[in-house]
Amino acid sequence: MKQLFVGMICVLALAATAVTVSATPKKRFDKTTGTCRILDSGPLEWESLPWGKGGKAFKQVCKSCHTRNNNQQAPFLWEESKTSKGWNRVFATMRVKCAKDGSWSKLSGDQLLMVNDYLYRWSSNSLDRHDSA
Ligand code: HEC
Repeated sequence: MKQLFVGMICVLALAATAVTVSATPKKRFDKTTGTCRILDSGPLEWESLPWGKGGKAFKQVCKSCHTRNNNQQAPFLWEESKTSKGWNRVFATMRVKCAKDGSWSKLSGDQLLMVNDYLYRWSSNSLDRHDSA
């Protein structure tokens, strides 16, 4: 019941931000856990935040294969390879081959949520990009 309530608030908040043009997502509703993940903060807090850790895990684990010209037959992936929704789908369905074959197993459930937060935050439809002027 409590989870449902949190989920509703999150969905309402997302709907409200969608009306104003929102450049960077501040929240992510996670379907698998039914929780609202808060991504909002100033850049100085970057490292200390959960999704700061998500970025680290993405680089250490996912990018151990998904670099350019890797020899694992893995396509090159970076934050902007997918939209926010696209990344949510990858983590919610776990249908990609590497998720099924155990390549993600170095990461705990909590860590995967953080990687999802991170990629959602910096996806191709976030206007606040690493490389934006
Ligand atoms: C051990 C190497 C390895 C690791 C670690 C790994 N992957 Fe993969 N991944 C692959 C390979 C190989 C494929 C291509 C599988 C195929 O042929 O369909 C793939 C495919 C994918 C795809 C589908 C390709 C596309 O363009 O949509 C996504 C998304 C993906 N991986 C995300 C991740 C994420 C997120 C992580 C970290 C949580 C991760 N991978 C960790 C090897 C890896």
